[in-house]
Amino acid sequence: MEKFGMELHVSTEDKRVGTGIEGLDGLLQGGYPQGSVTLVAGTPGTGKTIVCFQYINAGVKNGEKCLFLTSDERIYNLVSQAKKFGFDFDAAMQSGQLKFMYLDLEKRTVHKEMEAEIRIGKYSRVVLDSLTPLSEMPVWMVSRGSEIIPPEDTVMSAPIPIDSIQATRMHVRRLLRILEEDDCTALVTSEITEGSRNLSRDSVSEFLVDGILVLDLDPSMDRRKLTVRKMRGTKHTLKPRDIEINSKGGIRVL
Ligand SMILES: Nc1ncnc2c1ncn2[C@@H]1O[C@H](COP(=O)(O)OP(=O)(O)O)[C@@H](O)[C@H]1O
Ligand SMILES: [Mg+2]
Repeated sequence: MEKFGMELHVSTEDKRVGTGIEGLDGLLQGGYPQGSVTLVAGTPGTGKTIVCFQYINAGVKNGEKCLFLTSDERIYNLVSQAKKFGFDFDAAMQSGQLKFMYLDLEKRTVHKEMEAEIRIGKYSRVVLDSLTPLSEMPVWMVSRGSEIIPPEDTVMSAPIPIDSIQATRMHVRRLLRILEEDDCTALVTSEITEGSRNLSRDSVSEFLVDGILVLDLDPSMDRRKLTVRKMRGTKHTLKPRDIEINSKGGIRVL
């Protein structure tokens, strides 16, 4: 039976990557689908970075190669924040199993650097925290419109910055495609503006990903929620679930 093409298809679809969040794997038929890109959306302070820490921590404990892409240059701060939840990344960083990479948005080569690191590093787990500032970088049309990127030589190509939904869409698609390596399962966080109905500030990334988790908080009730809005090939509840954040292990689904 294993010889049939169908079996191959089913087994790839069914491979799951543990989320590292207590109670979440059970909502996702075992975890994120292997090879997928999941958007973790929420307003500030809803726990997006903690979801990333837990995902990376589970990978590290599982002996997998992990990459944490961050637009925050204070990597030391990030690592010590993780430590406060009980995730000690020092050993994994020293051995090269885990890499934190700062994405310098002032550098026009940031896409290429990210692309090269993912291709060469053979990571099984990649996190991009956050997509929002990257997606808001000024972009230019280069090579007769075939590609939208910040040009590497501003003076030479005398670019005209473009500001349109089409340009944003092309740029975000390019960013997400970098993460779409077959063997790597990626999480991408995105900032929601308070009161907005979009799941990202660029308003297009939610259409380009395989999965969406929405994090929410209700200040008046002092409650936090997690909703699985979308997950490729997965039967899941759409009901917001209560979650809790604590210093021992981060987020857990109640
Ligand atoms: N030790 C803790 N116990 C409970 N909640 C915490 C703890 N540390 C941080 N938090 C909560 O987590 C929030 C930060 O989560 P974070 O993942 O950084 O948010 P985001 O990335 O979505 O902006 C804080 O605003 C706070 O409410
Ligand atoms: Mg954050």
